[in-house]
Amino acid sequence: MPRKFLTLLALAVVALPAHAEGDAVAGKKAFRKCAACHTVETGNRVGPNLAGIGGRPVASVDGFRYSPAMKDFAADGKVWDEALLAQYLAAPKTMVKGTSMAFAGIRKGEEIADLIAYLKDPASAP
Ligand code: HEC
Repeated sequence: MPRKFLTLLALAVVALPAHAEGDAVAGKKAFRKCAACHTVETGNRVGPNLAGIGGRPVASVDGFRYSPAMKDFAADGKVWDEALLAQYLAAPKTMVKGTSMAFAGIRKGEEIADLIAYLKDPASAP
C-alpha cells in the first residue's frame, strides 16, 4: 500500500467522532418517532416488531404482511446489519422503492447511530 494512502487512512481514523458507536439512551428517545408503528418487543403494530433487528434477515417476521418491494429487497438473503439499517433509516423510500413504511427518514447521522445502538440492545437503555 502506498505510504501516502496509509497516512490518509490514519488521519481518517483519528477524525472519527467519539460517538461513532451511538448512545442507546438518546436512541430510546429518538425511537419515539418509530413507536407508533414499531415495538422492540414481540408483536406487530402497523410495522413489524423490531426485536433483535440487528442481524435479523430482512422481512422475516412471521405473520407480518410485508410490501412486495420489501420482499423483493430481501430476496437475496439480506440481513439488517448496521450499514443497511443506517442507509434505510436515512431514506427508506430511496433504498426500498415502494416500501409501505410511511416515514421520510432521519437526516442526522448521530441520531441514526443512537437509534441503532438502542435497537441492537434495548435493555441497555432503561
Ligand atoms: C408510519 C409507520 C412507521 C413508522 C413511523 C416507522 N416505520 Fe418502520 N416499518 C413500517 C412498516 C409498515 C414496515 C414494513 C415495510 C414494508 O413491508 O415495506 C416497516 C419496516 C421497518 C423495518 C424493516 C423490518 C423487517 O422486518 O425487515 C425496519 C428496520 C424499520 N421499519 C425501522 C424503523 C425505525 C427505526 C423507525 C423510526 C425511526 C421506523 N421504522 C418508523 C412502518 C413504520
